[in-house]
Amino acid sequence: MERSLTMELVRVTEAAALSSARWMGRGKKEEADDAATTAMRTVFDTVPMQGTVVIGEGEMDEAPMLYIGEKLGLGYGPEVDIAVDPLEGTNIVAKGTWNALTVLAVADRGNLLHAPDMYMDKLAVGPKAAGKVDIDAPVIDNLKAVAQAYGKDISDLVAILLDRPRHAKLINEIREAGARIKLISDGDVAAAIHTAFDEHTGVDIMFGSGGAPEGVIAAVALKCLGGELQGRLLPQTQEEIDRCKKMGIADLSQVLRMEDLVKGDDAIFAASGVTDGELLRGVRFHGNKAITHSVVMRAKTGTVRFVEGQHRLDRKPHLVFNDR
Ligand code: FBP
Repeated sequence: MERSLTMELVRVTEAAALSSARWMGRGKKEEADDAATTAMRTVFDTVPMQGTVVIGEGEMDEAPMLYIGEKLGLGYGPEVDIAVDPLEGTNIVAKGTWNALTVLAVADRGNLLHAPDMYMDKLAVGPKAAGKVDIDAPVIDNLKAVAQAYGKDISDLVAILLDRPRHAKLINEIREAGARIKLISDGDVAAAIHTAFDEHTGVDIMFGSGGAPEGVIAAVALKCLGGELQGRLLPQTQEEIDRCKKMGIADLSQVLRMEDLVKGDDAIFAASGVTDGELLRGVRFHGNKAITHSVVMRAKTGTVRFVEGQHRLDRKPHLVFNDR
């Protein structure tokens, strides 16, 4: 992949954020998602690359845009696989709460796990604790390992997880071990990334299950940051079990490690804030001007860039897909 692709890709998440942020707090998650998807799709086609969507909005018959297998880009340049979540946290935008992002990940063709749309159990940590945790180990052992890596007491740690009834046992185990907990309503891609910016976000480890596609996208971010995500697919139906087998995952207890989730030494991750978060600010509108806040990073070099974009909306009417 060429270096210049990195900056091209942040334009894609910026456009999606600009469009979906207009829906903040309006109670319309589908509209917010459509706005992000349409903007993302439009700007992808200005990027010099030969891209194929491997994680997207669904199969071709379910999604009009950014469907699995869709070709994106100008049709020349590097051949890449693309994983997108045009709006990560549709409910967050609908309610106007924290950490909604527009996200994408890109890697050389064949290097991203084609994660099916099902749950994945996940464990994520930042660079200091990478290589020291194990999704199969008891919760207390992982907390001890992270505490040691950070030179903290377990009682100083903050574990982040989605606030879901399915996490009740996990929550009890974390509480019994003495760590603190941050329960979030949605958005486990942001949560996983926050573990790599612990001093800024105050989050040390992410536990729990969420979407498998989100797991692959977060793994790309953590690869760029030197962190680690371990996952295990959690098929709920016979159809989902069959899908795992079709993908070559015959042993459903298999732990998916970084190299299984994103192969090779290179990958790019980009995200823009839609609503405010601990790491990225949401979109600010000022009349004809809007300000976006994004992060873009590349695994090969480990470069992490925070990008503030100032946009003239009157000069980009094609990027504002909403009814206002
Ligand atoms: P959407 O943006 O598609 O609504 O996903 C938000 C999210 O919270 C993800 O971050 C997470 O992986 C998944 O949903 C969790 O799923 P569930 O809400 O079924 O627990």
